[in-house]
Amino acid sequence: MDVLVIGSGAREHALVRALLDDPGVDRVVAAPGNAGISLVASCEPVEATDPAAVAALAQRLGADLVVVGPEAPLVAGVADAVRAGGTACFGPSAEAARLEGSKAFAKEVMAAAAVPTAMARVCTTEEEVAAALDAFGAPHVVKDDGLAAGKGVVVTDEREEALAHARACLGHGPVVVEEFLDGPEVSVFCLTDGEGVVALAPAQDFKRALDGDAGPNTGGMGAYSPLPWAPADLAEQVVRRVAQPVVDEMARRGTPFSGVLYCGLALTSRGLRVVEFNARFGDPETQVVLARLATPLGEVLRACARPGALRDLPPLRWREDAAVTVVLAAPGYPEAPVTGGVLRGLEDAEAVPGAHVLHAGTALAPDGTGIVSSGGRVLSVVGTGADLARAREAAYAALGSVHLDGARSRSDIAAAAAGA
Ligand code: AMP
Ligand code: GLY
Repeated sequence: MDVLVIGSGAREHALVRALLDDPGVDRVVAAPGNAGISLVASCEPVEATDPAAVAALAQRLGADLVVVGPEAPLVAGVADAVRAGGTACFGPSAEAARLEGSKAFAKEVMAAAAVPTAMARVCTTEEEVAAALDAFGAPHVVKDDGLAAGKGVVVTDEREEALAHARACLGHGPVVVEEFLDGPEVSVFCLTDGEGVVALAPAQDFKRALDGDAGPNTGGMGAYSPLPWAPADLAEQVVRRVAQPVVDEMARRGTPFSGVLYCGLALTSRGLRVVEFNARFGDPETQVVLARLATPLGEVLRACARPGALRDLPPLRWREDAAVTVVLAAPGYPEAPVTGGVLRGLEDAEAVPGAHVLHAGTALAPDGTGIVSSGGRVLSVVGTGADLARAREAAYAALGSVHLDGARSRSDIAAAAAGA
């Protein structure tokens, strides 16, 4: 099987790496990819959000399967165009990707499917926002309805700050005001072919920029799996109470959802609640979940591209190992990342037992002599080991070998769960 992976982050590097490990996969091409991916697979330039361009590339390569990594191509209709061009695709239609693209739509589907989530009001005026803030009380949660790359949500005790964020969002669309959910957050990726659902191992990510969950929200600064503190039946609960009802509701509406339904959940004192859906794999959680998956990835993703095929897939197998990933970010990330810094020590990092390095914002140096940073999140360094403590040691040992002037990373990824 020949697979084309769309995207250029560490999530896509993890997908490429796992696909290359699958004896059933003959060839992996990434588009556009990044410097690290180009060391292990060929990369093709493409405008990832241009549906016709991606479909044409898939045809030209004779790909048997296209795997779409990020949300923007999905919302733009890349999966639709690829399928219309006759190539199987892992990823939902634009219509189904609205589960991520519109928070109001996701709330409506959850209500119809009786899925537990925060109480919410969709508001189109400042007066409605003010009334909703008062109804739910502090802490206040105000969300931009549309895609905002993790920056559309404000959680605050200050009513004025909540109102100011709402005002900024109302300029271009509705806002969602929610009740605050307490309790730890987990990510559960539910694979689906539009009918059946199979959950991957739960993971937890660290969204804030600084140690101790301080600082601004980011795309994610690290992640780990498994979650020793979570209920043993968490994945099963998420399938039964969240993912299967949503997949059934989408099918009932004539807009089946296939690919991965990323269930972002809060384990609150009143039980499990959905915080958000994404229509794609999470980054950096994918880096740790795939490090633990023993079942070859290609056949699993291909099964999701054919309605009804998932039920014939044998149960997924998992390695005993735990995995921890720590993100190395550019100086100034997330507010104003500075790019173009030279990366050193990548080979030393790869040589650390149990560790591997996944690239995100990297590029080949213009003079061809090395690798430079080209984005906010630069690398995801992954460590695996018999338990979280050892996985964490491997990840931080490898991270310590990498040098990038002014780079930022957190020192407390998985620390509490590993008993560090
Ligand atoms: P979202 O874009 O909906 O995932 O929100 C981003 C982050 O804001 C989440 O990962 C949570 O940490 C936080 N958040 C969102 N909704 C809530 C809520 N209702 N209660 C508490 N925190 C929330
Ligand atoms: N790790 C959060 C996300 O992928 O949205």
